[in-house]
Amino acid sequence: MKTYHIAVIPGDGTGGEVVREGLKVLDAISSIHQFKIDRQTYDFGGERYLKTGEVLPDSALQEFRKYHAIFLGAIGHPDVKPGILEKGLLLRIRFGLEQYINLRPVKLFPGVDCPLKNKGPQDIDFVVVRENNEGLYVGEGEFQKKGTKDEVAIQVSRNTRRGVERCVRFAYEYTKKRNRRNKLTLCGKTNVLTYAFDLWERVFHEVGGEYPGITRDYAHVDAICMWMVKNPEWFDVIVTDNMFGDIITDLGAMIQGGMGIAAGGNLNPEGVSMFEPIGGSAPKYTGKGVINPLAAISAVQMMLDYLGESQAALQIEESIKWVTATQLKSLAAGKMGFSTSEVGDLVVKGLDQKVRV
Ligand code: IPM
Ligand code: MN
Repeated sequence: MKTYHIAVIPGDGTGGEVVREGLKVLDAISSIHQFKIDRQTYDFGGERYLKTGEVLPDSALQEFRKYHAIFLGAIGHPDVKPGILEKGLLLRIRFGLEQYINLRPVKLFPGVDCPLKNKGPQDIDFVVVRENNEGLYVGEGEFQKKGTKDEVAIQVSRNTRRGVERCVRFAYEYTKKRNRRNKLTLCGKTNVLTYAFDLWERVFHEVGGEYPGITRDYAHVDAICMWMVKNPEWFDVIVTDNMFGDIITDLGAMIQGGMGIAAGGNLNPEGVSMFEPIGGSAPKYTGKGVINPLAAISAVQMMLDYLGESQAALQIEESIKWVTATQLKSLAAGKMGFSTSEVGDLVVKGLDQKVRV
Protein backbone atom coordinates (compact mmCIF):
# COMPACT_ATOMS: atom_id res chain seq x y z
CA MET A 1 0.00 0.00 0.00
CA LYS A 2 1.24 3.47 -0.85
CA THR A 3 2.32 5.40 2.25
CA TYR A 4 2.66 9.18 2.49
CA HIS A 5 4.86 10.60 5.22
CA ILE A 6 3.41 13.87 6.46
CA ALA A 7 4.85 16.35 8.97
CA VAL A 8 2.10 18.07 10.95
CA ILE A 9 2.63 21.44 12.64
CA PRO A 10 -0.61 22.40 14.43
CA GLY A 11 1.00 25.66 15.63
CA ASP A 12 -0.79 28.21 17.77
CA GLY A 13 -4.28 29.20 18.81
CA THR A 14 -7.00 27.48 16.84
CA GLY A 15 -4.37 25.78 14.65
CA GLY A 16 -4.64 22.53 16.59
CA GLU A 17 -8.43 22.48 16.41
CA VAL A 18 -8.60 22.87 12.66
CA VAL A 19 -5.67 20.52 12.02
CA ARG A 20 -7.48 17.81 13.98
CA GLU A 21 -10.44 18.05 11.59
CA GLY A 22 -8.16 18.09 8.56
CA LEU A 23 -6.51 14.89 9.78
CA LYS A 24 -9.91 13.34 10.50
CA VAL A 25 -10.87 13.83 6.87
CA LEU A 26 -7.42 12.69 5.72
CA ASP A 27 -7.75 9.43 7.66
CA ALA A 28 -11.24 8.82 6.31
CA ILE A 29 -10.29 9.44 2.69
CA SER A 30 -7.13 7.35 2.94
CA SER A 31 -9.08 4.29 3.99
CA ILE A 32 -11.45 4.75 1.05
CA HIS A 33 -8.62 5.21 -1.45
CA GLN A 34 -6.25 2.58 -0.15
CA PHE A 35 -3.29 4.69 0.78
CA LYS A 36 -1.66 5.11 4.16
CA ILE A 37 -0.75 8.28 5.98
CA ASP A 38 2.19 8.13 8.30
CA ARG A 39 2.43 11.36 10.23
CA GLN A 40 4.68 13.02 12.72
CA THR A 41 3.52 15.98 14.81
CA TYR A 42 5.84 18.87 15.66
CA ASP A 43 5.10 21.31 18.48
CA PHE A 44 6.69 24.39 16.90
CA GLY A 45 4.91 27.64 17.63
CA GLY A 46 4.41 30.33 20.25
CA GLU A 47 4.09 28.08 23.31
CA ARG A 48 7.31 26.25 22.62
CA TYR A 49 9.09 29.50 21.86
CA LEU A 50 7.97 31.04 25.16
CA LYS A 51 9.10 27.94 27.06
CA THR A 52 12.41 27.26 25.34
CA GLY A 53 13.34 30.34 23.32
CA GLU A 54 13.54 28.15 20.25
CA VAL A 55 11.46 28.88 17.14
CA LEU A 56 12.72 26.32 14.63
CA PRO A 57 16.02 24.48 15.00
CA ASP A 58 18.08 23.88 11.86
CA SER A 59 17.75 20.16 12.46
CA ALA A 60 13.97 20.38 12.05
CA LEU A 61 14.27 22.13 8.71
CA GLN A 62 16.60 19.36 7.64
CA GLU A 63 14.18 16.72 8.95
CA PHE A 64 11.25 18.22 7.02
CA ARG A 65 13.03 17.39 3.77
CA LYS A 66 12.32 13.71 4.19
CA TYR A 67 8.52 14.08 4.16
CA HIS A 68 6.15 13.96 1.22
CA ALA A 69 4.45 17.11 2.52
CA ILE A 70 3.89 19.36 5.54
CA PHE A 71 0.49 20.28 6.95
CA LEU A 72 0.49 23.51 8.97
CA GLY A 73 -2.32 24.86 11.19
CA ALA A 74 -1.65 28.46 12.14
CA ILE A 75 1.04 30.48 13.82
CA GLY A 76 0.87 33.68 15.86
CA HIS A 77 0.72 34.01 19.64
CA PRO A 78 -0.61 37.02 21.58
CA ASP A 79 2.38 36.95 23.98
CA VAL A 80 5.01 36.82 21.24
CA LYS A 81 6.11 40.02 19.52
CA PRO A 82 4.85 40.13 15.89
CA GLY A 83 7.48 39.02 13.42
CA ILE A 84 9.31 36.45 15.52
CA LEU A 85 7.15 33.43 14.68
CA GLU A 86 6.20 34.70 11.23
CA LYS A 87 9.83 35.14 10.20
CA GLY A 88 11.34 32.38 12.33
CA LEU A 89 8.88 29.66 11.47
CA LEU A 90 6.55 30.30 8.54
CA LEU A 91 8.88 32.31 6.31
CA ARG A 92 11.87 30.21 7.39
CA ILE A 93 10.15 27.06 6.12
CA ARG A 94 8.95 28.76 2.92
CA PHE A 95 12.46 30.07 2.19
CA GLY A 96 14.47 27.23 3.70
CA LEU A 97 12.66 24.54 1.73
CA GLU A 98 12.57 26.79 -1.34
CA GLN A 99 8.80 26.67 -1.59
CA TYR A 100 8.85 29.27 -4.31
CA ILE A 101 5.17 29.16 -5.22
CA ASN A 102 2.27 30.09 -3.00
CA LEU A 103 -0.79 28.71 -4.73
CA ARG A 104 -4.08 30.22 -3.55
CA PRO A 105 -7.33 29.19 -5.19
CA VAL A 106 -10.20 31.66 -4.91
CA LYS A 107 -13.33 29.63 -5.43
CA LEU A 108 -16.84 30.39 -4.22
CA PHE A 109 -18.66 27.22 -3.16
CA PRO A 110 -22.43 26.81 -3.43
CA GLY A 111 -24.42 28.10 -0.49
CA VAL A 112 -21.62 30.39 0.67
CA ASP A 113 -22.54 33.96 1.42
CA CYS A 114 -20.59 36.24 -0.94
CA PRO A 115 -20.22 39.94 -0.16
CA LEU A 116 -20.37 40.77 -3.88
CA LYS A 117 -23.83 41.57 -5.19
CA ASN A 118 -25.11 39.31 -7.98
CA LYS A 119 -22.02 37.08 -8.05
CA GLY A 120 -22.21 33.33 -7.65
CA PRO A 121 -19.99 30.24 -7.88
CA GLN A 122 -19.92 30.51 -11.68
CA ASP A 123 -18.29 33.97 -11.37
CA ILE A 124 -15.68 33.37 -8.70
CA ASP A 125 -13.23 30.63 -9.62
CA PHE A 126 -9.66 31.68 -10.17
CA VAL A 127 -6.23 30.92 -8.77
CA VAL A 128 -3.47 33.24 -7.60
CA VAL A 129 0.11 32.10 -8.15
CA ARG A 130 2.10 34.15 -5.65
CA GLU A 131 5.89 34.21 -5.79
CA ASN A 132 6.92 32.98 -2.35
CA ASN A 133 10.68 33.39 -1.93
CA GLU A 134 11.58 36.90 -3.05
CA GLY A 135 10.33 40.48 -3.33
CA LEU A 136 9.87 42.53 -0.19
CA TYR A 137 9.88 39.36 1.89
CA VAL A 138 13.64 38.84 1.60
CA GLY A 139 14.06 41.13 4.61
CA GLU A 140 16.74 43.29 3.05
CA GLY A 141 17.06 46.90 4.03
CA GLU A 142 18.33 49.24 6.70
CA PHE A 143 17.64 52.15 8.97
CA GLN A 144 19.61 55.31 8.49
CA LYS A 145 19.86 57.83 11.32
CA LYS A 146 17.45 55.72 13.33
CA GLY A 147 15.53 57.59 15.98
CA THR A 148 16.38 61.03 14.59
CA LYS A 149 14.10 63.34 12.70
CA ASP A 150 16.09 62.55 9.58
CA GLU A 151 15.48 58.82 9.87
CA VAL A 152 15.18 56.79 6.70
CA ALA A 153 13.92 53.19 6.59
CA ILE A 154 14.76 51.23 3.47
CA GLN A 155 13.07 47.95 2.53
CA VAL A 156 14.31 46.24 -0.58
CA SER A 157 12.28 44.22 -3.06
CA ARG A 158 14.62 41.66 -4.59
CA ASN A 159 13.51 40.04 -7.83
CA THR A 160 15.90 37.69 -9.58
CA ARG A 161 15.59 36.57 -13.16
CA ARG A 162 15.73 32.96 -11.97
CA GLY A 163 13.11 33.49 -9.25
CA VAL A 164 10.71 35.39 -11.47
CA GLU A 165 11.14 33.00 -14.36
CA ARG A 166 10.45 29.83 -12.39
CA CYS A 167 7.33 31.43 -10.91
CA VAL A 168 6.03 32.69 -14.24
CA ARG A 169 6.78 29.35 -15.88
CA PHE A 170 4.91 27.53 -13.14
CA ALA A 171 1.95 29.87 -13.69
CA TYR A 172 1.83 29.14 -17.43
CA GLU A 173 2.07 25.41 -16.85
CA TYR A 174 -0.63 25.60 -14.21
CA THR A 175 -2.94 27.63 -16.47
CA LYS A 176 -2.44 25.12 -19.24
CA LYS A 177 -3.10 22.14 -16.98
CA ARG A 178 -6.14 23.82 -15.45
CA ASN A 179 -7.44 24.31 -18.99
CA ARG A 180 -10.36 26.47 -18.01
CA ARG A 181 -10.20 29.86 -19.71
CA ASN A 182 -6.52 29.54 -20.59
CA LYS A 183 -5.81 33.08 -19.52
CA LEU A 184 -2.92 34.26 -17.37
CA THR A 185 -2.97 37.75 -15.85
CA LEU A 186 0.22 39.36 -14.60
CA CYS A 187 -0.53 41.56 -11.60
CA GLY A 188 2.12 44.25 -11.21
CA LYS A 189 2.77 47.97 -11.00
CA THR A 190 4.80 48.72 -14.09
CA ASN A 191 3.88 52.41 -13.96
CA VAL A 192 5.71 52.98 -10.66
CA LEU A 193 7.90 49.98 -9.78
CA THR A 194 9.86 50.38 -12.98
CA TYR A 195 12.69 48.00 -12.08
CA ALA A 196 10.91 45.08 -10.44
CA PHE A 197 7.95 44.87 -12.76
CA ASP A 198 9.95 45.68 -15.84
CA LEU A 199 11.71 42.39 -15.20
CA TRP A 200 8.43 40.63 -14.43
CA GLU A 201 6.82 41.96 -17.60
CA ARG A 202 9.74 40.99 -19.84
CA VAL A 203 9.86 37.48 -18.40
CA PHE A 204 6.07 37.19 -18.60
CA HIS A 205 6.04 37.86 -22.36
CA GLU A 206 9.22 35.98 -23.11
CA VAL A 207 8.04 32.78 -21.42
CA GLY A 208 4.53 33.40 -22.74
CA GLY A 209 5.89 32.93 -26.25
CA GLU A 210 6.25 29.25 -25.43
CA TYR A 211 2.54 29.03 -24.59
CA PRO A 212 0.62 30.15 -27.68
CA GLY A 213 -2.56 28.60 -26.27
CA ILE A 214 -2.57 30.90 -23.24
CA THR A 215 -3.99 34.43 -23.50
CA ARG A 216 -1.71 36.97 -21.81
CA ASP A 217 -3.21 39.77 -19.79
CA TYR A 218 -1.70 42.48 -17.61
CA ALA A 219 -3.23 44.65 -14.88
CA HIS A 220 -1.80 46.93 -12.21
CA VAL A 221 -2.36 45.68 -8.68
CA ASP A 222 -4.73 48.50 -7.78
CA ALA A 223 -6.87 47.76 -10.83
CA ILE A 224 -6.82 44.06 -9.97
CA CYS A 225 -8.33 44.93 -6.57
CA MET A 226 -11.06 46.86 -8.32
CA TRP A 227 -11.83 44.09 -10.79
CA MET A 228 -11.73 41.30 -8.23
CA VAL A 229 -14.72 43.06 -6.70
CA LYS A 230 -16.44 44.27 -9.86
CA ASN A 231 -15.72 41.50 -12.39
CA PRO A 232 -14.12 38.49 -10.69
CA GLU A 233 -15.28 36.31 -13.61
CA TRP A 234 -12.59 37.90 -15.77
CA PHE A 235 -9.86 35.99 -13.99
CA ASP A 236 -8.55 32.50 -14.57
CA VAL A 237 -5.00 32.51 -13.17
CA ILE A 238 -3.19 35.55 -11.76
CA VAL A 239 0.58 35.56 -11.27
CA THR A 240 2.24 38.15 -9.06
CA ASP A 241 5.05 38.94 -6.64
CA ASN A 242 5.15 38.05 -2.96
CA MET A 243 3.76 41.25 -1.45
CA PHE A 244 1.00 41.89 -3.97
CA GLY A 245 0.11 38.20 -3.77
CA ASP A 246 -0.21 38.44 0.00
CA ILE A 247 -2.56 41.40 -0.27
CA ILE A 248 -4.80 40.31 -3.13
CA THR A 249 -5.29 36.83 -1.68
CA ASP A 250 -6.81 38.27 1.50
CA LEU A 251 -9.24 40.13 -0.76
CA GLY A 252 -9.71 36.85 -2.62
CA ALA A 253 -10.47 35.03 0.64
CA MET A 254 -13.20 37.57 1.42
CA ILE A 255 -14.98 37.14 -1.91
CA GLN A 256 -14.89 33.34 -1.55
CA GLY A 257 -16.56 33.46 1.85
CA GLY A 258 -13.83 34.41 4.30
CA MET A 259 -10.86 32.99 6.15
CA GLY A 260 -12.92 30.01 7.24
CA ILE A 261 -12.64 28.49 3.78
CA ALA A 262 -9.43 29.86 2.19
CA ALA A 263 -6.46 27.50 1.83
CA GLY A 264 -3.10 27.62 0.14
CA GLY A 265 -0.09 25.56 -0.78
CA ASN A 266 3.54 26.59 -0.45
CA LEU A 267 5.04 24.59 -3.26
CA ASN A 268 8.47 23.43 -4.15
CA PRO A 269 7.75 21.37 -7.26
CA GLU A 270 11.17 19.76 -6.91
CA GLY A 271 11.05 19.34 -3.12
CA VAL A 272 8.78 19.36 -0.09
CA SER A 273 5.62 21.46 -0.07
CA MET A 274 3.55 22.81 2.81
CA PHE A 275 -0.23 23.23 2.92
CA GLU A 276 -2.10 25.57 5.24
CA PRO A 277 -5.34 27.39 5.87
CA ILE A 278 -4.42 30.99 5.05
CA GLY A 279 -6.05 32.55 8.11
CA GLY A 280 -4.30 33.24 11.40
CA SER A 281 -4.37 31.59 14.81
CA ALA A 282 -7.52 33.46 15.97
CA PRO A 283 -6.58 33.58 19.69
CA LYS A 284 -10.00 34.84 20.75
CA TYR A 285 -11.70 31.68 19.48
CA THR A 286 -9.12 29.24 20.82
CA GLY A 287 -10.47 26.22 22.66
CA LYS A 288 -14.10 27.13 22.07
CA GLY A 289 -14.78 24.67 19.26
CA VAL A 290 -16.32 27.40 17.12
CA ILE A 291 -13.66 27.94 14.47
CA ASN A 292 -14.39 26.83 10.91
CA PRO A 293 -12.16 23.89 9.90
CA LEU A 294 -13.07 23.95 6.20
CA ALA A 295 -9.96 25.94 5.25
CA ALA A 296 -7.75 23.32 6.90
CA ILE A 297 -9.75 20.56 5.24
CA SER A 298 -9.32 22.34 1.90
CA ALA A 299 -5.58 22.47 2.60
CA VAL A 300 -5.65 18.67 3.00
CA GLN A 301 -7.53 18.46 -0.29
CA MET A 302 -4.85 20.56 -2.02
CA MET A 303 -2.14 18.42 -0.45
CA LEU A 304 -3.67 15.21 -1.79
CA ASP A 305 -4.15 16.70 -5.22
CA TYR A 306 -0.51 17.74 -5.19
CA LEU A 307 0.60 14.28 -4.09
CA GLY A 308 -1.19 12.84 -7.09
CA GLU A 309 -4.30 11.54 -5.29
CA SER A 310 -6.59 13.59 -7.50
CA GLN A 311 -9.65 11.37 -7.08
CA ALA A 312 -9.38 11.57 -3.30
CA ALA A 313 -8.94 15.34 -3.52
CA LEU A 314 -11.98 15.70 -5.75
CA GLN A 315 -14.07 13.64 -3.37
CA ILE A 316 -13.14 15.95 -0.48
CA GLU A 317 -14.05 18.98 -2.56
CA GLU A 318 -17.43 17.47 -3.46
CA SER A 319 -18.10 16.86 0.20
CA ILE A 320 -17.09 20.39 1.20
CA LYS A 321 -19.49 21.71 -1.46
CA TRP A 322 -22.26 19.55 -0.05
CA VAL A 323 -21.53 20.84 3.46
CA THR A 324 -21.57 24.51 2.41
CA ALA A 325 -24.60 24.10 0.17
CA THR A 326 -26.84 22.08 2.45
CA GLN A 327 -25.52 22.01 6.02
CA LEU A 328 -23.80 25.12 7.37
CA LYS A 329 -25.71 28.27 8.29
CA SER A 330 -22.64 30.43 7.82
CA LEU A 331 -18.89 30.03 7.40
CA ALA A 332 -18.15 32.47 10.23
CA ALA A 333 -16.71 31.28 13.53
CA GLY A 334 -19.48 30.61 16.04
CA LYS A 335 -22.22 30.99 13.43
CA MET A 336 -21.91 27.74 11.52
CA GLY A 337 -24.75 26.01 13.37
CA PHE A 338 -22.23 23.27 14.20
CA SER A 339 -19.08 22.96 16.27
CA THR A 340 -15.61 22.69 14.71
CA SER A 341 -15.56 18.94 15.21
CA GLU A 342 -19.11 18.48 13.92
CA VAL A 343 -18.14 20.23 10.69
CA GLY A 344 -15.25 17.76 10.34
CA ASP A 345 -17.72 14.92 10.91
CA LEU A 346 -20.03 16.34 8.24
CA VAL A 347 -17.23 16.42 5.67
CA VAL A 348 -16.39 12.80 6.49
CA LYS A 349 -20.05 11.88 6.13
CA GLY A 350 -20.32 13.70 2.79
CA LEU A 351 -17.41 11.70 1.33
CA ASP A 352 -20.08 9.10 0.67
CA GLN A 353 -21.80 10.03 -2.56
CA LYS A 354 -25.05 8.37 -1.44
CA VAL A 355 -25.32 10.84 1.42
CA ARG A 356 -24.97 13.81 -0.87
CA VAL A 357 -28.00 13.34 -3.08
C1 IPM B 1 0.16 34.74 4.66
C2 IPM B 1 0.47 35.50 5.92
C3 IPM B 1 1.98 35.60 6.07
C4 IPM B 1 2.50 36.34 4.86
C5 IPM B 1 2.46 36.26 7.36
C6 IPM B 1 1.90 35.57 8.59
C7 IPM B 1 3.96 36.33 7.44
O1 IPM B 1 -0.13 36.75 5.92
O2 IPM B 1 0.46 33.54 4.61
O3 IPM B 1 -0.40 35.33 3.75
O4 IPM B 1 2.56 37.57 4.86
O5 IPM B 1 2.85 35.67 3.89
MN1 MN C 1 -1.33 37.12 4.17
